[in-house]
Amino acid sequence: MSDQPLVIFTPSGKRGRVAPGTSVLAAARQLGVDLDSVCGGRGICSKCQVTPSYGEFAKHGVTVRDGALSEWNSVEQRYDDKRGLPKGRRLGCQACIQGDVVLDVPPESQVHRQVIRKSADARPMVMDPAVRLYYVEVAEPDMHVPTGDFERLTQALKDQWEVTDLIAMPSLLAKLQGVLRKGAWKVTVAVHDDHTGARPQVIEVWPGLHEAGLFGLAIDLGSTTIAAHLTDLLTGEVRASSGLMNPQIRFGEDLMSRVSYVMMNPGGEAELTSVVRAALSDLARALADEAQIDSALIVEAAIVCNPVMHHLLLGIDPTELGQAPFALAVSESLSLPASDLEITTINPRARAYMLPCIAGHVGADAAAVSIATAPEMSDELMLVIDVGTNAEILLGDKTRVLACSSPTGPAFEGAQISSGQRAAPGAIERVEIDPATKEPRFRVIGVDLWSNDPGFAVAVAQTGVTGICGSGIIEAVAEMRMAGLLDARGLIGSAEQTGTIRCEPEGRTHSYLIHDGTAEGGPRISVTQGDIRAIQLAKSALYAGARLLMDERGVDRVDRVVLAGAFGAHISAKHAMVLGMIPDVALDKVTSAGNAAGTGARMALCSIAVRRQVEQGVRRISKIETAIAPKFQEHFVNANAIPHATDPFPELGRIVTLPDVSFNTNGGEDGGRRRRRRG
Ligand code: FES
Repeated sequence: MSDQPLVIFTPSGKRGRVAPGTSVLAAARQLGVDLDSVCGGRGICSKCQVTPSYGEFAKHGVTVRDGALSEWNSVEQRYDDKRGLPKGRRLGCQACIQGDVVLDVPPESQVHRQVIRKSADARPMVMDPAVRLYYVEVAEPDMHVPTGDFERLTQALKDQWEVTDLIAMPSLLAKLQGVLRKGAWKVTVAVHDDHTGARPQVIEVWPGLHEAGLFGLAIDLGSTTIAAHLTDLLTGEVRASSGLMNPQIRFGEDLMSRVSYVMMNPGGEAELTSVVRAALSDLARALADEAQIDSALIVEAAIVCNPVMHHLLLGIDPTELGQAPFALAVSESLSLPASDLEITTINPRARAYMLPCIAGHVGADAAAVSIATAPEMSDELMLVIDVGTNAEILLGDKTRVLACSSPTGPAFEGAQISSGQRAAPGAIERVEIDPATKEPRFRVIGVDLWSNDPGFAVAVAQTGVTGICGSGIIEAVAEMRMAGLLDARGLIGSAEQTGTIRCEPEGRTHSYLIHDGTAEGGPRISVTQGDIRAIQLAKSALYAGARLLMDERGVDRVDRVVLAGAFGAHISAKHAMVLGMIPDVALDKVTSAGNAAGTGARMALCSIAVRRQVEQGVRRISKIETAIAPKFQEHFVNANAIPHATDPFPELGRIVTLPDVSFNTNGGEDGGRRRRRRG
């Protein structure tokens, strides 16, 4: 029997023998166990906590006796008195191993703790941030050995933490002397060290032990909205989330109109750049306020965006992206000072990481979606659609992943729709139409009742019924098709043809009245022929993009559809399929990945391993350019019908029978005749 005690760490299961008297922290390091420490074993940070277990462990083949660890010592007592240690916990840097022992490392004591992600099939994420904290004791200056404070700081980091080759910006050096003296030569430093091969940089220095945490921003910079999550860089937890409209909208609703603005107004990119940068600063400040943290504790941002936004944020003229061959100025990821992006409300030495673009039309947002949904790990052929102003589409499985982007326009977000509005309280988000009576009922955001439920009028009094949002218009159009108010070509029938006075004439076309709020001073909310047209264009672009990828893969069907994007989370799969937004697939094979681009940004923010994965991953993704693909137009035209002119939808047919109606364009003149196809 060995005279060296056996130590077993859980949950990792790592085990080995160590010399008696070895501290738990040293044993963990020796055995490669992930046990945190910021103070370097000085008994002040409490990051090294472990829970010893005593008794018989048949599973591990050990018996842990009293005295397996050294006695509770005065350092632990001092920490317990001052801050309190949870019952049963020991400080790993103080407790020494004297006999066989089983030690549990709780999640909060693991540097690389695993972050639980909501989606069951999502790639797990392990904390591995670029910025780390180190507590050091720095040698005091000595007239006889003249060295700078920074050199003595870096020497301390080298001796105590084996962190070498450090650099610092002048603004850090400017505060260093004061902080070292204030902390009596004991300081905590934040060091940024990523995977790019750049020298590690001291980002911040605080006197004594810094305990107020470290934060980062995961930013999803979209054409219409900018969303950001303030994320704890030690735990991965999101502390606050917020979003705002992209202020570039005043220069053009969609990306190409912003590119045109730059083309027609030389130097115009500078304006677009400055407004979006200011918006990021505003958002950072708002998030710090909401989480009640000092915004100087935000030390890094990870940013995902489409190529045009990417260029405009960087101050690069996007003109080349508006024309073939859609050349990017830079496609690889970038790690740069956040101050270069004029994000002024966070730590002045904070860093920014911009995810790589896949191609001139397929951006870092698609790269982020691929991190979050991991099609390259799927056995089934998976179609991932990030629905937004520009749809990012990925198709793939373990063998190969393809990507494209399709210009859907903002109709799915409620823009370009006569009664359209953003998803906000008062917006109609769900619609049902009775196929017999042709009467609609609906639900609005913020109220749980349907419009025909008792109490709806009272419940909705505060917000009113103000308009219809993206998911609402999709349901409305699909329900109109299912109720026989709309034909496969997308024409709304007249009152005579459909049998409901809700189908009202509007010029040479018709519209369908969903809600008339004029008696209460509210709006009349209808779906017009123009609205149908806008939705048809958007859904045709989406479907055609997906079909192009399927052609490239040589398939007519996919196994699964994953809808991403904040809006994707609210789309009803059945209605999306009735509309022909997505290819035919069993309904239970359509899932939502939530805001996958934002999730991808957060994963990259929290882990440099994820950054490496995405950088390697995008090189393996094959890009298909929709703008120049000859078949895109053909697919687009065929997809104009609802659900589709030529592609069969057998799965949809199992759950929905679409009425075979046909309406002429000048309404009513064919006397409401319904044409029934045979068979
Ligand atoms: Fe800091 Fe143990 S390592 S208290």
